[in-house]
Amino acid sequence: MFSPTGEIVADAQRRGVGVGAFNVITVEHAEAIVTGAEAAGVAVILQISENAVRFHDGRLAPIAAAARCVAELSSVPVGLHLDHVESDELFDQAAANGFGSAMYDASKRDYEGNVAATAAAAQRGHAQGLWIESELGEVGGKDGAHAPGVRTDPGEAAAYVAATGVDALAVAVGSSHAMTTRDARLDHALIEQLREATPVPLVLHGSSGVGDDDLRKAVAAGIVKINIGTALNIAFTGAIRRELAVQTSVDPRRYLRPARDEMAATVTRALRVVTLL
Ligand code: G3H
Ligand code: ZN
Repeated sequence: MFSPTGEIVADAQRRGVGVGAFNVITVEHAEAIVTGAEAAGVAVILQISENAVRFHDGRLAPIAAAARCVAELSSVPVGLHLDHVESDELFDQAAANGFGSAMYDASKRDYEGNVAATAAAAQRGHAQGLWIESELGEVGGKDGAHAPGVRTDPGEAAAYVAATGVDALAVAVGSSHAMTTRDARLDHALIEQLREATPVPLVLHGSSGVGDDDLRKAVAAGIVKINIGTALNIAFTGAIRRELAVQTSVDPRRYLRPARDEMAATVTRALRVVTLL
């Protein structure tokens, strides 16, 4: 069943566990993520990024409707989140397209610019009932432009949350987007400091590059929402490559079904880790 993101995150936080938020590019992603969550028996968040909307020729409605529909048919609570939104125009379409939450990403701007744009977006989003996430301290790898080693400062994070009114904060603590190896090193002491400094749940981006033990420690230290994208694409594309190497059929279902199954298994494994099962 569809469930507001804020409620899913608050429930996880109350229970001292994490919640997995997985990137959706195609309808097969949404199906695999929900199947994987049902197998684990836990709530999950489907997230569609501005980049994914760009892939769908800039149109949010078709992929959002598909994901929302898959969410509604699920036996576990499923949230729908619009991710890494830099465009105000896209951000303002979130509520009308069935999202319960959105991430307004002004992390490439300087501190003052980030605060001003995010505070305005949060006000508009809240007026439409959205739960709002934003980012302070650039998590690397989004477009290769971020300097490695950037970290979110706890004092600045506290001031930022107070000034913007966001409901959750994405923090730079050692992870980086689009990693295909799992050797990122998280700064767990910094996560604890950020949890103590800020009243809102913390979000880890670029979680595909983080090993299972480090993810469990991150949840114990205070991360609540764990964003995973690349790991699903590794599973999906790997299965398609394997199938195409041995199949001669032109029917896409012959390779999409095993790819979707592989992705679902990856989701189940990740959810068991972040929910500390
Ligand atoms: O917002 C999405 C995530 O941060 C996904 O990052 O593809 O590196 O797992 P990832
Ligand atoms: Zn991200």
